[in-house]
Formats: sequence, structure tokens, C-alpha cells
Amino acid sequence: MRNPQLNRHGELQHLLTLDGLPREVIISILDHATPFTEVAEREVKKLPLLRGKSIFNLFFENSTRTRTTFEIAAKRLTADVVTLNVSTSSTSKGESLLDTIDNLCAMNADMFVVRHSASGAPVLIAQHLQATGRDHIHVINAGDGRHAHPTQGLLDMYTIRHYKRDFSQLSIAIVGDVLHSRVARSQIAALTTLGVPDLRVIAPKTLLPSAVEKMGVRTFSDMREGLRGVDVVMMLRLQNERMAGALLPTPQEYYKVWGLTPEKLSRAKPDAIVMHPGPINRGIEIDSAVVDGDQAVILPQVTFGIAVRMAVMCMLAGQ
Ligand code: NCD
Repeated sequence: MRNPQLNRHGELQHLLTLDGLPREVIISILDHATPFTEVAEREVKKLPLLRGKSIFNLFFENSTRTRTTFEIAAKRLTADVVTLNVSTSSTSKGESLLDTIDNLCAMNADMFVVRHSASGAPVLIAQHLQATGRDHIHVINAGDGRHAHPTQGLLDMYTIRHYKRDFSQLSIAIVGDVLHSRVARSQIAALTTLGVPDLRVIAPKTLLPSAVEKMGVRTFSDMREGLRGVDVVMMLRLQNERMAGALLPTPQEYYKVWGLTPEKLSRAKPDAIVMHPGPINRGIEIDSAVVDGDQAVILPQVTFGIAVRMAVMCMLAGQ
């Protein structure tokens, strides 16, 4: 079977994962996002690029930033966007995912933005659309299980490029619950494709995937050692909802060893930036003084996320 992300002409049909996505495609999305950041500064924050398109936001799992920024992105492009509240939709009455999709296709959907707790749900939808000849409909993965969160990975790449310019010169550390993190998987895929020469993962051994070194990273369990001289610190939330059994000591002990405090951050370069996909847990993986400090770019990440999602939607729709 061909790569379900690409159409028969080799163009991006869906955005499901950053794994295997060519460097040129990633760079092109980042380049397309740049002019969209300026739309936010206008009095009328609208471009007619997706006028008349119907976009369905399907969030089967909680979200604040991702759901709202996708919705704002679609509205700024003048699409008709419908955000389904899945807890009050028919899936809670037993309708299957693909039956829900078929019904929304019968309403002439052009694009689905899907978040699901099951890894592979967006891929399943893309394969179903392909198998039923509905090649004009696009799927964007807005986070599936532990698998991937490609638009988060892309907005993170946009943020890094904005502050640090050249990926080929950077030391970057990803810190925290890598085992349960779809964000970390998408970040690692993009950072290795973009040629970051020094990519580190800092985590307790119980929160590292078993073959993580095969992803092209160096692992550290000592945070002070792992942060030494890095340009970018990418923090992760502890995904307690995905943890089966006790993988960790108490939150207080976790904070003591792996929480990012100003003292631990002082091991990184003085101009290092601190990123976090949100939601943040102050006092667990990150200290309030770091969140509110000069090096944090956590809120700019959210703002860039709108422009990056606009770029992805336009590219998929061929605009
Ligand atoms: C992340 C997610 O849901 O995967 N958040 C986000 O999309 N901004 C990370 C998390 O939940 O910790």
C-alpha cells in the first residue's frame, strides 16, 4: 500500500505523521506559515483562501490549544468550520468512527481535523476515504494516542527556526515523559529530518521508550548533565492519564529530579529558549519562575501554531 499521506501524484493528501515526511515538505510548510503570522496583526484577520470549504474539527479527546487554534486558523482562511463536541455526538450512542465520518462526508466535508485517544485513528479514516474513492477529502492528525502530533511538531520547528535560525548548529534537549508522548515522537522525527546534530532526551529510565536511541537521540537520566550547553529545552507534561501502574515516584520527587528550575536551566546556554506544548503543570515538570521568565517561548508557540495550521490546511487544499 502506498504512503497514506501522499496522493497518486506524490503530493501531500493528508498530514498524519512527520515520520518519513521529506525535509522539503517540512521547510515548505514553515515557509508558507511565515506570511500568515502577519494576518494576526491586521484589523480584518481574514484571507479568502479556503472560502466555501467545509472543515470538521473532530476532537474525541480533550484539548484547549490545538482545537481552538485549528478553529481560528480555519476561520481566518474563511472556511466553514464545524467543531463537533464528541461527548454529545452519536459516537457516545455507539456509532462507529467510520459511520460518523460517512455521515459528515454526506454533508460534503472537505477536511477532517482529528484528535483521538487511539493511535492510528486518523490513518484509519484516511485509508477509509481512499478505499471509498473520496480522494478530495483531507485528514489532519491533531494528536492520536502516543503515536503522533504532526502540527505540534511543525509549530515547534517554526518556533525554533524563528528564534535560532539554523537547525544544523543546534543542541536540543527534550525533557520528560517521552514514553507516552506523541509530541516527542513528532519532534524527534522533524528534528532529525532537519539535521539537528545534537539531539538529547532527558528522562527517568521508566519514561523512555525501549529503542529510543534508534531514533537518533542521546539519552540522559541526569538533568544537569543533559542540559549542559543546549540551545533549546523542550519540556513535556507527565501524561498521567496514559500511565498504567507506578512508573514514577511522587510528583514532588519528580519535580526535584526532572523539574526545570532556574538553577537547572542555568546549565543550558544563557540564550537558550524553553518550550512546552502545554498544558503546563507548574511545580511538577516546570517551575513557575521558568514559565514566567525571559527564556520561555511557550505562549509564542501557541500564536505560531495558528499560522502553521493555516499553512498546513492551505497546502492540503492545494492553495
Ligand atoms: C499535547 C497533546 O495533547 O498531545 N498538547 C497539545 O496538543 N498542545 C501535550 C500534552 O497533552 O501534554
